[in-house]
Amino acid sequence: MQKPTNFYVPSINLMGTGCLSNFGQELQAKGFKKALIVTDKNLVNLGHVRKVEQILKDTGITYSIFDGVEHPNPTTSFVENGLHHLKKGNLLQKDFNFIISVGGGTNHDCARSIALLAANGGKISDYEGLNKVPKNILPWVAVNTTSGSGAEVTNFDIIVDESRKVKMDIVDPQMLATLTVNDPSLMTTIPKEVTISSGIDVLAHAIESYVSINATPVTDALALGAIKLVFNYLKKAAANGNDTEARENMMYAEFMAGMSFNNAGVGYIHAIAHQIGGFSNRHHGLITGALIPYVLKFNALAVPIERFMDIAKAMGKEDIKEDDAVETVHTAINELNAELGIPSDLSELGAKEENIGIMAENALKDVACLTNPRLASLEDMIQLIRTTMGMKAGQESEWKPGEQLSNPINVMLANNAERLTDTNSYNNRT
Ligand SMILES: [Fe+2]
Repeated sequence: MQKPTNFYVPSINLMGTGCLSNFGQELQAKGFKKALIVTDKNLVNLGHVRKVEQILKDTGITYSIFDGVEHPNPTTSFVENGLHHLKKGNLLQKDFNFIISVGGGTNHDCARSIALLAANGGKISDYEGLNKVPKNILPWVAVNTTSGSGAEVTNFDIIVDESRKVKMDIVDPQMLATLTVNDPSLMTTIPKEVTISSGIDVLAHAIESYVSINATPVTDALALGAIKLVFNYLKKAAANGNDTEARENMMYAEFMAGMSFNNAGVGYIHAIAHQIGGFSNRHHGLITGALIPYVLKFNALAVPIERFMDIAKAMGKEDIKEDDAVETVHTAINELNAELGIPSDLSELGAKEENIGIMAENALKDVACLTNPRLASLEDMIQLIRTTMGMKAGQESEWKPGEQLSNPINVMLANNAERLTDTNSYNNRT
């Protein structure tokens, strides 16, 4: 029997080329009157924000624009600046009754964090961890212009705490969008490097959720569907950004992988990526993409071979034997990464030898760990991170865990210890 689970997705999602034209009607149906648009200057210059503005004008909705988000990572500073804008804008704070993010994951995460603080007060780190949000956030509507993070579909809010150099996870069903718009015609302007980094992140989401200990038949179908689409269309979208078929299919891949990992969870790829991303400002997707082959090999011991056979088939590798399944999947990902120009050595993406200990310690406190199929000790995690940097594993580290809890998620993990031990094996799935 499968354990009972909750399946969370935003309730209304507009999808497909031209769906932006239905946006105004949906906003009117919700009774929204005054919006804060959260975006970045690039999307203002590209004209995407103007399209949203026109729809708001046509539907009688007033708005103010905060375009102070910068890329590639959402930070506490952007959230604080956006909240400041909300409070001092031309409209009184109480008059804003919803927030619209225009952009990709960085803009969406900043917007929902502002929506969280507008309704609940305090600072963003107060809500780090699982289910810490007491009241409904201000309604948040996501107009998506990339196909990668899945942020618009999920209730995982990721913000870089600049003072601690960690990416915080704020995970709560209340962090879901009220409405999402996924129109591929807004995605043809994505630069090639962002198409690649966000597209390979979709693969990381799909694979991690497929081998997650919380996977269900529903998330399995979504994950495998996303893997198939990524292998069929990511290289095409990267080669020609105006390939509308490729863009549309990568949008669906992102959406499916997002639904899958929002409910099945992710794993050590993201737990480690959040630490490397805390120290470097490289794109999240480049880091997760580069990590896939290493974590896949580490997890292989704990994942039934049938799961690797399924992944290989979704990648288009039909005639393989069970004994070859792990290597087939591993090789296919390495080949895809190489063709897309994704580095195989994480030291090229900001991982530094002197940070291995603290990254390993904090990775094990990351909420993403909760659903990884194989549990790592601190020493395991140190050695895993060493291998991603081209260093030999097997040499015992000198890192000793800090006495202070440098990340409140450690408390949450301790509270979930029973759940971890109860669900750390597929053998529990009968
Ligand atoms: Fe990701």
